[in-house]
Amino acid sequence: MDATGFKRGSDLLRRHQQDEGRAGEFTLLDRTWDLLDGVFSPTYTPVTELFSTWLPYPEGGAFLEMGSGAGVTSVIAAQSGCRTVTALDISAAAVENTRRNIERHQVGDRARALHSDLFSALSPDERFDVIYWNSNFAEAPDDFVNETDLHHAFFDPRYDAHRRFAHEAPAHLTDQGRLLLGFSSIGNSALLAEICGEAGLAVDVLRTERRSPDPDTTLEFQLLELRPV
Ligand SMILES: C[S@@+](CC[C@H](N)C(=O)[O-])C[C@H]1O[C@@H](n2cnc3c(N)ncnc32)[C@H](O)[C@@H]1O
Repeated sequence: MDATGFKRGSDLLRRHQQDEGRAGEFTLLDRTWDLLDGVFSPTYTPVTELFSTWLPYPEGGAFLEMGSGAGVTSVIAAQSGCRTVTALDISAAAVENTRRNIERHQVGDRARALHSDLFSALSPDERFDVIYWNSNFAEAPDDFVNETDLHHAFFDPRYDAHRRFAHEAPAHLTDQGRLLLGFSSIGNSALLAEICGEAGLAVDVLRTERRSPDPDTTLEFQLLELRPV
């Protein structure tokens, strides 16, 4: 295992834990957002901003955001012409946070947030034009345990959830539906490619950008498409 991803994920987790009790507001993409304790903060890393800006939102279509966190991308999707937006998260605090931002930005007529371990809250016949996850790609030791909901924002030991995502998502896509993943250079690209291969998917890179979120760290952020082969 390359230790860089685990160190970066652990540093971010620690910063979030130090922030406990300091929930409030933040500004991103010219909008103000609520942030609750225990929820992934879009202010410590450029992922949320980059991917929310790059995503090909399906105008007039159905958009599913896996792991919505504070709900920024789901609200932007609803404001970008999607007919319906479904936001799912395994963290109850993230679901509540997404609901608050849906309400704050008045998109409740077309956006909903559900508590869900991957696709478990959906009925089997629900289909989407785009399914997207800014995933918990930071590498972790195989025996690492996600002790709290917040841990799930950063780590997916053995990429078990990524494996389930790659296998289960295609059944929830429309005929022309697209499966997208927000990833970065601290993720395990080789393991992701292996998992996708097992699920009959190829990994295409749609867009990348190098950024230095901290003075001593330069990362490449990647929007990936998982395409049937
Ligand atoms: C890197 S954070 C991204 C949050 C938000 N989408 C953003 O861009 O700011 C990953 C999110 O995925 C959620 N997540 C992790 N495992 C999950 C699972 N099995 N089912 C649903 N959501 C999950 C986490 O709780 C977290 O909110």
